[in-house]
This record gives sequence, structure tokens and C-alpha cells, in this order.
Amino acid sequence: MQKQTKIKGFIFDLDGVITDTAEFHYKSWQKLADEEDLFFNREVNEKLRGVSRMESLNIILADQDIPAAKKKEWTDRKNEYYQKYLTEISKADILDNMEAKLEKLKAEGYKLAVGSSSRNAKKVLKQLKITNLFDIIADGNSVERAKPAPDLFLYAAQGLGLKAAECVVLEDAESGVEAALAAEMRVIGLGPESRVGKADLVYANVSEINFEEIIKKL
Ligand code: G6P
Ligand code: MG
Repeated sequence: MQKQTKIKGFIFDLDGVITDTAEFHYKSWQKLADEEDLFFNREVNEKLRGVSRMESLNIILADQDIPAAKKKEWTDRKNEYYQKYLTEISKADILDNMEAKLEKLKAEGYKLAVGSSSRNAKKVLKQLKITNLFDIIADGNSVERAKPAPDLFLYAAQGLGLKAAECVVLEDAESGVEAALAAEMRVIGLGPESRVGKADLVYANVSEINFEEIIKKL
């Protein structure tokens, strides 16, 4: 943790931090799994938090060997189901006061970025009507190597014109916390210690996030 460096920007994961699309991902994977007779349940779904679409399918498949073309068809179909759910989301789906918190940070002069593994991130932000709060949106299309590689967060920091040490990441996934640490950024974990315990500061859920505390403590 780079305690001495002044915080100048915040990088927000999207799913599970700004909005809770995890349930839609779950339902979409479950539908595909039922259709293709793949083993899947909520426990397996927990392992998919923060993980890219194809890597999620690989986790579901465990050691089953499936041709690449079939895997592409399956991930495309899962995405079709997911995108149908996305048409239903709106401002009401922003988690606990997050919009007000983002607006306050922006007014205080902090730079704001999204750092999400999702290739649907821009679509989600548009539905939530908060795209313009962010200086840069780094998503699943921005870099090759997904979380836990640091690439996505480094790309976001570069877009903000900030050094890694000046950024704080907010994450709900173990892979995301690892990515932030690999990027040598400070990181706030959201969720149980068992999942995000490696973070510099942990809140059990989004409603407990206290930016004054973060700015003071980190
Ligand atoms: C986020 C979610 C994951 C999801 C990934 C890719 O990180 O937490 O559950 O698999 O994005 O999303 P996409 O919209 O590209 O399928
Ligand atoms: Mg997440």
C-alpha cells in the first residue's frame, strides 16, 4: 500500500459495485447450462464473479474438452440472454446511493473511471444513465489480459492521466482485488473477508462505503 501518495482518482468495478447484474449473469448461465446439460448452480456461479465470459465458461466446463466453435456459440447465446435482461435495468438498479457518492467525489475534483471485465459495461452504464460521471470507461474490450492481470486497471489509470499509486480501486471480486494489487494500486474490497480479504480496506457491502474514511485511512 502506497500510503504516502495523495489519492487523485477512483476506479470502480461495475458488476457488484455500482449495480448488481450478478443475478442476471447467473440466470443467463443457468439457462444455457440447462439447455446444454452442463453442471451449474449458485456455488459455481460465485466463482464467476469478475471473470471474463469465456473464462467463466471454462470454469463451468471444468475439465470437459469442448471444441472452440461450440464454446463460442455457447458464450454468444449466454450473452444474448444476458443482454435481454439488460434492457430491463434503469437508474433504480444503481446500488445504495452510489450515484450521489460518485457525484460528490467528482465535485471534490477526483477523477473517476470504470474498470470492468464486462464487454457490456458501456451498455449497462447507458441504461443506468451515469456514463457522463466517468472520465474513462475501461471494459472487457480495452485490454487482452483479463483480471487478475493488472492490465485493465493500468489502462484506466493511464486514461485518467494518473500514476497507479494515485488511484484507488473498488472491487467485489477476488480476481479484481488481485488485479488491483498487481497494478500496485490501493484497493477497497466489498464483500466477505473470505472473498476480498486481501484488500487494504474491506466493507461488507456497498452501502457501508465511506469515502471520507477511505481518503483518511489509505
Ligand atoms: C463482470 C462480471 C462477470 C462477467 C464478466 C464478463 O466481471 O462480474 O460475472 O462474466 O463481467 O461480462 P460480459 O458482459 O462481457 O459477459
Ligand atoms: Mg464485480
